[in-house]
Amino acid sequence: MAEKFNYDSIFSKTSRDTPIGTVRHSKYDFAVAYPDPDTLPLDELIDSMKSGFEQEGRDLAYYSTAAGYPELRRLVAEKLARERNMKVGVDDVVLTSGSGEAIGILIQAMTDPGDVVLVEEFVYLGTMNQMRRYGADIVAVRCDDDGIIPSDLDSVITEQTAKGKKVKYLYTIPAFQNPMGWTMSLERRKQVLEVTGKHSVPVFEDDCYADLRFEGEDVTSFHSLDDTGRVVYVGSFSKIIAPGMRMGYMVAPQEVLSRAWGFKSGGAVSQFTALAVAELMKGGLDAHIELQNEALMVKRDAMLAALGENFGDSVSWTVPQGGLYIWVKFPEGTNLAAVQEQVFNEGVSYYNGSQFSPTGEGSNYVRLCFGHPTPETIRDGIAELANILNRIGTFTG
Ligand SMILES: Cc1ncc(COP(=O)(O)O)c(C=O)c1O
Repeated sequence: MAEKFNYDSIFSKTSRDTPIGTVRHSKYDFAVAYPDPDTLPLDELIDSMKSGFEQEGRDLAYYSTAAGYPELRRLVAEKLARERNMKVGVDDVVLTSGSGEAIGILIQAMTDPGDVVLVEEFVYLGTMNQMRRYGADIVAVRCDDDGIIPSDLDSVITEQTAKGKKVKYLYTIPAFQNPMGWTMSLERRKQVLEVTGKHSVPVFEDDCYADLRFEGEDVTSFHSLDDTGRVVYVGSFSKIIAPGMRMGYMVAPQEVLSRAWGFKSGGAVSQFTALAVAELMKGGLDAHIELQNEALMVKRDAMLAALGENFGDSVSWTVPQGGLYIWVKFPEGTNLAAVQEQVFNEGVSYYNGSQFSPTGEGSNYVRLCFGHPTPETIRDGIAELANILNRIGTFTG
């Protein structure tokens, strides 16, 4: 047999072995942040594609404008102005392959190895992985149920500055935070802007869950509270249509957009998807979001009820007014990281807190996602989680 070619001497110095991996599912899957396939707007998408292609399908013969389909950017700008009070026009919006791509290229454009970047105490793993990849020194800021604690933010920046470090930016997920579930209050947002302003630190706002509110009042975006161009914003269609669409966007001053764009590979986003999303926005998207949010609230309630029935007073959890996550705190010393694989093999999956922490702390927390399973599955799965943890002696509450 011919000897296989060895690429070791070919790989670039900056390339890293990053396993492509496959997603594993358990019987009761509370780890994944997916929507329920039964609530996807498939019929509406089929209609949108049909009308989009009838009107503009011939344009697929060309490469799209670099920033992506102008009509979709216009619709996004309108939505952000209407719902997030942002003063933006079509030229302020660049479409990306999910918001994950926007996050990755913005991090590349704003991070050198060793730079300090600030995040919330527990934070979305995808962002943290990108920050690590580009060598950031990730520093956590403490949070409570209202979001980032401004005094802690101030001390962290002051401490880092005293060490001679430049704090590059604060990354925040202010609405239905992943994984903690809270939404930052208006008061806190203003205080966070004040503190970061004092130290000339930009705010990187990841608002991908903003539309998933099923209870309470909307809180305006960070972006709308600033008129100096100090907020960089990303959003996504993954949570309101489907992650498989791979459509997101970034909004930032032109100089930031063009730097980030320099790291985008493969040119503009898929025109095929952009046409379908634009047509859906003109048609049934708002009605779909409303229906999806009604379904999410039923699931949240099912999970809250099941947690109440199966876990005693020593366990506490957040009650999110939207989004996909409940953040559960077990007594100090409980190690849900050590048994995660075993619990997975017995049929229940979750992510534990240490996976979302820049310092690897928090293995007495779990993030439970209620977006994908049905209310019945949630009820049975939470009971099963309590059974397994009791049986293996991790938690006997
Ligand atoms: C906070 C946050 N930001 C960004 C993303 C990336 O989503 P997408 O790339 O599908 O838009 C996710 C995905 O779960 C997320 O939780």
